Amino acid sequence: MDQAATLNRFAVFGNPVKHSLSPRIHQLFAAQADIPVEYGAVEVSEDYLSREVQKLADAGGTGCNITLPLKQQAFRLANSVSERARLSRSANTLIFKTSTRWSADNTDGAGLLRDLTVNLSIETRDRRICVIGAGGAAAGILYDLLQQKPSSLTLFNRTLERAEELAERFARIGMITAADLDSMSGSQAFDLVINATSAGHLRQAPVLHAALFGPASECYDLNYGNAHSALGEWCFKQGIECHDGLGMLVEQAAESFYLWTGFRPDTAPVLALLKTDQPRGNSPSTSPSSSSSG
Ligand code: ATR
Repeated sequence: MDQAATLNRFAVFGNPVKHSLSPRIHQLFAAQADIPVEYGAVEVSEDYLSREVQKLADAGGTGCNITLPLKQQAFRLANSVSERARLSRSANTLIFKTSTRWSADNTDGAGLLRDLTVNLSIETRDRRICVIGAGGAAAGILYDLLQQKPSSLTLFNRTLERAEELAERFARIGMITAADLDSMSGSQAFDLVINATSAGHLRQAPVLHAALFGPASECYDLNYGNAHSALGEWCFKQGIECHDGLGMLVEQAAESFYLWTGFRPDTAPVLALLKTDQPRGNSPSTSPSSSSSG
């Protein structure tokens, strides 16, 4: 068979995207699937995203990933969208049906849930869960979290109005309550506290009140690498178990790979390999630092 005809062309678009682990992850998936894959990383501004994605589609591309800060724009480029992408108003995955008909999905929530439930054995059904942050990262995980039917889902945000808007948008999927950061102090403990703020990008931990945590509470940070360090350190000092978002990064990538190729990768060896390169806990490193979405 002609090798060029069967080559699967993908790329991740973002800004910045230089340190993206996605090309490496997808090449490891491709090796498992035994299919030829070319996966590029394209740094692009909002103004040129449409043009650059079209170039990939015209070159026979199968689809692409989109990372920060272009997910909202990517969602608007598609002709059709999944329900979870429509509700989050963002897409991390485009699937090219033809060179001009693209469908959009957001695999971030599915990736998070798979990391929580399969890799970390953290239950979400009937559990008290809170999410800190009400921006794009939070919007990307709420659909899948609510589908799990937690006993309660509270969305804390510095700007209450943003949390209220998100809670209203997702209310049809499940019970979700908006709250401001001040109300943390009067809260009951949660089983799972998820950090979806962008504070880690400034090497900061979001302000978390001790009331959120009971003896068995766990924390999950959508960030990994250097962006996770401040929260990892804070949790370590409090004796709270805290997981970084590297597993979610690999799992959301696997979901995308499955949507494009029909092959579901074995994520365990890929995650194990990446973990050997990543800073753990609060150790300083020059490794990539990002949120778990590309
Ligand atoms: P992203 O797409 O990464 O989610 P975003 O849409 O800009 O980025 O949202 C960032 C989120 O992190 C917001 O919820 C923001 O709170 P505001 O809505 O009040 O701006 C939150 N955030 C950022 N820095 C924070 C900090 N230091 N403490 C708490 N929340 C923070």
